[in-house]
Amino acid sequence: MPEADDTESRNYFADVPVENHGFHVRGANSLEWGQKNRLGRIFRKESGKTVMFAVDHGYFQGPTTGLERLDLTIPPLLDKADALMATRGAIRTSVDPAMDKAIVLRASGGPSILKELSNEQVAITLDDAIRINASALAVQMFVGGEFETQSIKNLTTLVDEGMRYGIPVMGVVAVGKELVRDARYFRLATRMGAELGAQIIKCYYTEEGFDTVVSTCPVPIVVAGGKKLPELDALIMARRSIDEGAAGVDMGRNIFQSANPRAMITAVSKVVHEGMSAEDAHELFNDLSNQ
Ligand code: R5P
Repeated sequence: MPEADDTESRNYFADVPVENHGFHVRGANSLEWGQKNRLGRIFRKESGKTVMFAVDHGYFQGPTTGLERLDLTIPPLLDKADALMATRGAIRTSVDPAMDKAIVLRASGGPSILKELSNEQVAITLDDAIRINASALAVQMFVGGEFETQSIKNLTTLVDEGMRYGIPVMGVVAVGKELVRDARYFRLATRMGAELGAQIIKCYYTEEGFDTVVSTCPVPIVVAGGKKLPELDALIMARRSIDEGAAGVDMGRNIFQSANPRAMITAVSKVVHEGMSAEDAHELFNDLSNQ
Protein backbone atom coordinates (compact mmCIF):
# COMPACT_ATOMS: atom_id res chain seq x y z
CA MET A 1 0.00 0.00 0.00
CA PRO A 2 1.31 3.50 -0.77
CA GLU A 3 1.93 5.94 2.03
CA ALA A 4 -0.88 8.43 2.80
CA ASP A 5 0.88 11.14 0.79
CA ASP A 6 3.34 9.67 -1.65
CA THR A 7 2.78 12.24 -4.44
CA GLU A 8 6.45 13.03 -4.83
CA SER A 9 7.50 9.41 -5.00
CA ARG A 10 5.11 8.53 -7.83
CA ASN A 11 5.22 9.92 -11.34
CA TYR A 12 1.56 10.15 -12.13
CA PHE A 13 2.13 11.70 -15.53
CA ALA A 14 5.05 9.66 -16.84
CA ASP A 15 3.15 8.32 -19.85
CA VAL A 16 0.84 11.23 -20.43
CA PRO A 17 1.84 13.60 -23.25
CA VAL A 18 2.02 17.18 -22.13
CA GLU A 19 -0.63 19.40 -23.70
CA ASN A 20 -0.01 23.01 -22.85
CA HIS A 21 -3.09 24.27 -24.68
CA GLY A 22 -1.02 26.78 -26.63
CA PHE A 23 -3.83 28.65 -28.32
CA HIS A 24 -3.94 29.36 -32.04
CA VAL A 25 -5.34 32.89 -31.86
CA ARG A 26 -2.89 35.74 -31.59
CA GLY A 27 -2.76 37.50 -28.23
CA ALA A 28 -5.35 35.21 -26.63
CA ASN A 29 -3.23 32.99 -24.40
CA SER A 30 -4.07 34.88 -21.23
CA LEU A 31 -7.81 34.90 -21.82
CA GLU A 32 -10.02 32.56 -19.91
CA TRP A 33 -11.52 29.38 -21.30
CA GLY A 34 -14.86 30.73 -22.52
CA GLN A 35 -13.25 33.56 -24.48
CA LYS A 36 -10.82 31.11 -26.07
CA ASN A 37 -13.61 28.71 -26.88
CA ARG A 38 -15.53 31.46 -28.67
CA LEU A 39 -12.44 32.68 -30.53
CA GLY A 40 -11.78 29.06 -31.46
CA ARG A 41 -15.19 28.91 -33.13
CA ILE A 42 -14.29 31.94 -35.27
CA PHE A 43 -10.67 31.08 -36.17
CA ARG A 44 -10.15 27.53 -37.44
CA LYS A 45 -7.52 25.66 -35.47
CA GLU A 46 -5.98 24.04 -38.58
CA SER A 47 -5.28 27.30 -40.39
CA GLY A 48 -5.57 29.83 -37.57
CA LYS A 49 -7.75 31.88 -39.91
CA THR A 50 -11.34 32.81 -40.58
CA VAL A 51 -13.71 33.60 -43.39
CA MET A 52 -16.27 35.90 -41.82
CA PHE A 53 -19.27 36.69 -43.99
CA ALA A 54 -20.39 40.27 -43.30
CA VAL A 55 -24.08 41.05 -43.78
CA ASP A 56 -24.54 43.79 -41.19
CA HIS A 57 -24.78 46.69 -43.66
CA GLY A 58 -28.50 47.26 -43.16
CA TYR A 59 -28.07 48.57 -39.63
CA PHE A 60 -27.09 51.98 -41.00
CA GLN A 61 -27.75 51.86 -44.75
CA GLY A 62 -30.93 49.84 -45.14
CA PRO A 63 -31.41 47.19 -47.84
CA THR A 64 -28.21 47.63 -49.82
CA THR A 65 -27.67 45.99 -53.22
CA GLY A 66 -27.41 42.22 -52.87
CA LEU A 67 -28.81 42.24 -49.34
CA GLU A 68 -32.39 43.18 -50.15
CA ARG A 69 -33.58 39.78 -48.91
CA LEU A 70 -31.56 38.55 -45.93
CA ASP A 71 -33.55 35.32 -45.91
CA LEU A 72 -32.53 34.54 -49.49
CA THR A 73 -28.93 35.79 -49.34
CA ILE A 74 -27.55 34.36 -46.10
CA PRO A 75 -28.66 30.70 -45.85
CA PRO A 76 -27.17 29.38 -49.15
CA LEU A 77 -23.72 30.75 -48.28
CA LEU A 78 -23.43 29.91 -44.61
CA ASP A 79 -21.81 26.50 -44.98
CA LYS A 80 -18.84 28.12 -46.74
CA ALA A 81 -18.21 30.66 -43.95
CA ASP A 82 -16.61 30.19 -40.54
CA ALA A 83 -18.50 33.08 -38.98
CA LEU A 84 -21.47 35.26 -39.77
CA MET A 85 -21.25 38.97 -38.92
CA ALA A 86 -24.80 40.22 -38.57
CA THR A 87 -27.32 42.14 -36.47
CA ARG A 88 -29.64 40.45 -34.02
CA GLY A 89 -32.57 41.41 -36.23
CA ALA A 90 -31.07 39.68 -39.23
CA ILE A 91 -30.18 36.60 -37.23
CA ARG A 92 -33.56 36.17 -35.54
CA THR A 93 -35.57 36.75 -38.72
CA SER A 94 -33.43 35.14 -41.38
CA VAL A 95 -30.98 32.56 -40.01
CA ASP A 96 -31.76 28.98 -39.02
CA PRO A 97 -31.05 28.56 -35.27
CA ALA A 98 -29.71 25.08 -36.04
CA MET A 99 -26.81 26.50 -38.01
CA ASP A 100 -23.40 25.75 -36.52
CA LYS A 101 -21.35 28.81 -37.48
CA ALA A 102 -19.93 31.38 -35.11
CA ILE A 103 -21.92 34.59 -34.79
CA VAL A 104 -20.13 37.92 -34.67
CA LEU A 105 -22.91 40.14 -33.46
CA ARG A 106 -23.20 43.79 -34.44
CA ALA A 107 -23.30 45.58 -31.09
CA SER A 108 -23.14 49.29 -31.91
CA GLY A 109 -25.40 51.50 -33.96
CA GLY A 110 -27.61 54.58 -34.04
CA PRO A 111 -27.11 56.97 -36.94
CA SER A 112 -28.18 56.21 -40.49
CA ILE A 113 -26.32 57.19 -43.64
CA LEU A 114 -28.36 60.41 -43.48
CA LYS A 115 -26.53 61.54 -40.33
CA GLU A 116 -23.06 61.67 -38.76
CA LEU A 117 -22.07 58.01 -38.72
CA SER A 118 -19.57 58.26 -35.88
CA ASN A 119 -22.38 59.15 -33.44
CA GLU A 120 -22.95 55.49 -32.51
CA GLN A 121 -23.87 54.01 -29.15
CA VAL A 122 -23.87 50.52 -27.72
CA ALA A 123 -26.93 48.93 -29.31
CA ILE A 124 -27.41 45.67 -27.41
CA THR A 125 -27.24 44.28 -23.90
CA LEU A 126 -25.00 41.35 -23.06
CA ASP A 127 -28.08 39.42 -21.96
CA ASP A 128 -29.35 39.47 -25.51
CA ALA A 129 -25.94 38.70 -26.99
CA ILE A 130 -25.82 35.62 -24.77
CA ARG A 131 -29.35 34.61 -25.77
CA ILE A 132 -28.22 34.70 -29.39
CA ASN A 133 -25.11 32.70 -28.46
CA ALA A 134 -22.73 35.29 -29.90
CA SER A 135 -19.11 34.23 -30.30
CA ALA A 136 -18.02 37.87 -30.46
CA LEU A 137 -19.42 41.40 -30.42
CA ALA A 138 -18.59 43.89 -33.18
CA VAL A 139 -18.28 47.58 -32.40
CA GLN A 140 -17.36 50.42 -34.72
CA MET A 141 -14.27 52.54 -33.86
CA PHE A 142 -14.30 56.00 -35.45
CA VAL A 143 -10.70 56.98 -34.79
CA GLY A 144 -10.29 60.56 -36.00
CA GLY A 145 -14.06 60.91 -36.42
CA GLU A 146 -16.29 63.53 -34.85
CA PHE A 147 -17.49 61.19 -32.09
CA GLU A 148 -14.18 59.37 -31.69
CA THR A 149 -14.20 59.27 -27.88
CA GLN A 150 -17.82 58.09 -27.70
CA SER A 151 -17.11 55.26 -30.12
CA ILE A 152 -14.05 54.22 -28.12
CA LYS A 153 -16.15 54.31 -24.98
CA ASN A 154 -18.60 51.97 -26.71
CA LEU A 155 -15.70 49.60 -27.31
CA THR A 156 -14.37 49.67 -23.76
CA THR A 157 -17.87 49.27 -22.31
CA LEU A 158 -18.42 46.17 -24.43
CA VAL A 159 -14.95 44.82 -23.61
CA ASP A 160 -15.74 45.14 -19.89
CA GLU A 161 -19.09 43.42 -20.33
CA GLY A 162 -17.56 40.82 -22.62
CA MET A 163 -14.87 40.01 -20.07
CA ARG A 164 -17.59 39.45 -17.49
CA TYR A 165 -19.29 36.82 -19.62
CA GLY A 166 -16.43 35.43 -21.72
CA ILE A 167 -17.39 37.09 -25.01
CA PRO A 168 -14.63 38.63 -27.14
CA VAL A 169 -15.03 41.99 -28.87
CA MET A 170 -14.08 42.85 -32.43
CA GLY A 171 -13.15 46.51 -32.94
CA VAL A 172 -14.16 47.57 -36.44
CA VAL A 173 -12.00 50.39 -37.79
CA ALA A 174 -14.45 52.65 -39.61
CA VAL A 175 -12.89 55.13 -41.98
CA GLY A 176 -14.63 58.43 -42.68
CA LYS A 177 -14.48 60.01 -46.13
CA GLU A 178 -12.10 62.72 -44.92
CA LEU A 179 -9.56 60.28 -43.43
CA VAL A 180 -6.55 58.95 -45.32
CA ARG A 181 -6.66 55.14 -45.46
CA ASP A 182 -2.94 54.53 -45.17
CA ALA A 183 -0.86 52.19 -43.05
CA ARG A 184 -0.02 54.97 -40.59
CA TYR A 185 -3.70 55.54 -39.86
CA PHE A 186 -4.44 51.84 -39.56
CA ARG A 187 -1.44 51.27 -37.26
CA LEU A 188 -2.88 53.94 -34.96
CA ALA A 189 -6.47 52.71 -35.03
CA THR A 190 -5.79 48.97 -34.80
CA ARG A 191 -3.27 49.38 -32.00
CA MET A 192 -5.69 51.60 -30.06
CA GLY A 193 -8.38 48.96 -30.33
CA ALA A 194 -6.12 46.15 -29.19
CA GLU A 195 -4.66 48.11 -26.29
CA LEU A 196 -8.12 49.13 -25.13
CA GLY A 197 -9.07 45.48 -24.96
CA ALA A 198 -10.51 44.30 -28.30
CA GLN A 199 -9.56 40.68 -28.95
CA ILE A 200 -10.02 40.97 -32.75
CA ILE A 201 -9.61 43.99 -35.02
CA LYS A 202 -11.17 44.46 -38.40
CA CYS A 203 -9.69 46.99 -40.80
CA TYR A 204 -8.99 47.56 -44.48
CA TYR A 205 -6.04 46.31 -46.50
CA THR A 206 -3.48 48.91 -47.53
CA GLU A 207 -1.35 48.55 -50.65
CA GLU A 208 1.67 49.91 -48.78
CA GLY A 209 2.76 48.78 -45.33
CA PHE A 210 -0.07 46.44 -44.40
CA ASP A 211 2.49 44.06 -42.89
CA THR A 212 3.40 46.79 -40.39
CA VAL A 213 -0.26 47.22 -39.46
CA VAL A 214 -0.37 43.51 -38.62
CA SER A 215 2.99 43.34 -36.87
CA THR A 216 2.24 46.27 -34.56
CA CYS A 217 -1.20 45.00 -33.54
CA PRO A 218 -1.05 42.28 -30.87
CA VAL A 219 -4.40 40.69 -31.76
CA PRO A 220 -5.63 39.12 -35.02
CA ILE A 221 -6.61 41.43 -37.85
CA VAL A 222 -9.35 40.48 -40.28
CA VAL A 223 -9.63 42.44 -43.49
CA ALA A 224 -12.87 44.05 -44.66
CA GLY A 225 -13.71 43.61 -48.30
CA GLY A 226 -14.89 47.14 -48.99
CA LYS A 227 -16.61 48.24 -52.18
CA LYS A 228 -17.34 45.62 -54.83
CA LEU A 229 -14.30 44.90 -56.99
CA PRO A 230 -13.90 42.59 -59.97
CA GLU A 231 -13.65 39.07 -58.49
CA LEU A 232 -9.97 38.63 -59.39
CA ASP A 233 -9.05 41.93 -57.69
CA ALA A 234 -10.92 40.95 -54.54
CA LEU A 235 -9.15 37.59 -54.48
CA ILE A 236 -5.77 39.30 -54.99
CA MET A 237 -6.56 41.55 -52.04
CA ALA A 238 -7.47 38.55 -49.91
CA ARG A 239 -4.27 36.71 -50.95
CA ARG A 240 -2.06 39.71 -50.16
CA SER A 241 -3.81 40.30 -46.84
CA ILE A 242 -3.15 36.74 -45.72
CA ASP A 243 0.42 36.74 -47.04
CA GLU A 244 1.10 39.92 -45.09
CA GLY A 245 -0.24 38.51 -41.84
CA ALA A 246 -4.01 38.95 -41.70
CA ALA A 247 -5.88 36.26 -39.78
CA GLY A 248 -8.68 36.20 -42.29
CA VAL A 249 -11.23 38.29 -44.09
CA ASP A 250 -14.57 39.76 -43.09
CA MET A 251 -16.09 40.18 -46.50
CA GLY A 252 -19.53 41.36 -47.47
CA ARG A 253 -20.17 43.18 -50.74
CA ASN A 254 -17.47 41.34 -52.65
CA ILE A 255 -19.37 38.15 -51.86
CA PHE A 256 -23.06 39.02 -51.89
CA GLN A 257 -22.75 41.45 -54.83
CA SER A 258 -20.69 38.97 -56.86
CA ALA A 259 -22.15 37.53 -60.05
CA ASN A 260 -22.00 34.18 -58.22
CA PRO A 261 -21.85 34.64 -54.43
CA ARG A 262 -21.45 30.94 -53.63
CA ALA A 263 -18.60 30.51 -56.09
CA MET A 264 -16.98 33.64 -54.70
CA ILE A 265 -17.12 32.64 -51.04
CA THR A 266 -15.77 29.21 -51.98
CA ALA A 267 -12.84 30.81 -53.80
CA VAL A 268 -12.18 33.20 -50.90
CA SER A 269 -12.12 30.29 -48.47
CA LYS A 270 -9.54 28.45 -50.61
CA VAL A 271 -7.33 31.55 -50.53
CA VAL A 272 -7.68 32.07 -46.79
CA HIS A 273 -7.47 28.50 -45.52
CA GLU A 274 -5.65 26.52 -48.19
CA GLY A 275 -3.06 28.94 -49.54
CA MET A 276 -4.55 28.98 -53.02
CA SER A 277 -3.23 31.69 -55.33
CA ALA A 278 -5.60 34.44 -56.39
CA GLU A 279 -5.33 33.33 -60.02
CA ASP A 280 -6.19 29.70 -59.22
CA ALA A 281 -9.03 30.83 -56.98
CA HIS A 282 -10.34 32.99 -59.81
CA GLU A 283 -10.22 30.03 -62.15
CA LEU A 284 -12.14 28.04 -59.55
CA PHE A 285 -14.66 30.88 -59.32
CA ASN A 286 -15.14 30.77 -63.10
CA ASP A 287 -15.44 26.97 -63.15
CA LEU A 288 -18.02 26.95 -60.37
CA SER A 289 -19.93 29.79 -62.02
CA ASN A 290 -20.10 27.89 -65.30
CA GLN A 291 -21.41 24.67 -63.77
C1 R5P B 1 -19.55 48.09 -42.11
O1 R5P B 1 -19.57 48.88 -41.24
C2 R5P B 1 -19.88 46.73 -41.85
O2 R5P B 1 -19.34 46.39 -40.62
C3 R5P B 1 -19.48 45.72 -42.88
O3 R5P B 1 -19.61 44.48 -42.29
C4 R5P B 1 -18.08 45.87 -43.39
O4 R5P B 1 -17.96 47.06 -44.08
C5 R5P B 1 -17.62 44.67 -44.22
O5 R5P B 1 -18.34 44.54 -45.35
P1 R5P B 1 -17.72 44.88 -46.78
O6 R5P B 1 -16.84 43.72 -47.12
O7 R5P B 1 -18.91 44.98 -47.65
O8 R5P B 1 -16.94 46.14 -46.67
